[in-house]
Amino acid sequence: MTKENIENSQISLRYEGNEVFLESGGQSMSADFSKMGKRLTHANLTHELIVKAAKIKDFDHVPLVCDATAGLGEDSLLLAAAGCRVILYERDPMIAALLKNAIEKGASSDLSDIREAVSRMEVREEDSITALPKLFEEGITPDIVFLDPMFPEREKSSLVKKKFQLIHLLEKPCSDEDELLNSAVLAAPAKIIIKRPVKAAILGSIKPDYSLTGKTVRYDIILLKNLRRS
Ligand SMILES: C[S@@+](CC[C@H](N)C(=O)[O-])C[C@H]1O[C@@H](n2cnc3c(N)ncnc32)[C@H](O)[C@@H]1O
Repeated sequence: MTKENIENSQISLRYEGNEVFLESGGQSMSADFSKMGKRLTHANLTHELIVKAAKIKDFDHVPLVCDATAGLGEDSLLLAAAGCRVILYERDPMIAALLKNAIEKGASSDLSDIREAVSRMEVREEDSITALPKLFEEGITPDIVFLDPMFPEREKSSLVKKKFQLIHLLEKPCSDEDELLNSAVLAAPAKIIIKRPVKAAILGSIKPDYSLTGKTVRYDIILLKNLRRS
């Protein structure tokens, strides 16, 4: 995407110096990983539920994660800080621009944990539903596919953090859950991790093998070793 301002009805992107801002109705936001610094220390990372769900020690190599619903990349950052390589798919061009900017800024962060994590993150501005089944053409088989599609109730929640209110103007609640899950299966990972609100129904129609439940979110884990290509 070129560095020109993108306009989409009342929502627009503004480029200023090395920052990209999403703006609408007098509100403005940018994506930045600097506030995540504390969560990336080794001691804190081990308590992150998503890191527990990934079970990185089960792999005898650096695991490759495909985050099929990248958003602003915070979940991917945790996985990258824990040692994974991560390909992040984001289909909305404005969200992808904010995400790329967060990674660019992270590369010159004062915090080495952030610099190292972003060095393992690659953004692809694509729809993962079409991209994941074609990964094998590039000789890529992910170890983990991570899914965190927008959940309708989250959109309405009064608990939604202010910084996410603007981004929710762009995100649509997921209407293609089955397609998303099927694409993840076609990428032939060892496991699929799905982030859901604690009490939400499972995504799609494959029953998870087990779940890890926190205060507000649940990670459903589907083990697919028997679906791996030989
Ligand atoms: C709830 S957010 C993800 C938040 C993310 N886990 C984080 O840590 O910031 C969902 C994002 O997935 C994107 N998305 C949904 N379906 C997608 C698809 N099929 N391909 C690529 N991006 C998708 C949406 O545009 C939205 O930005």
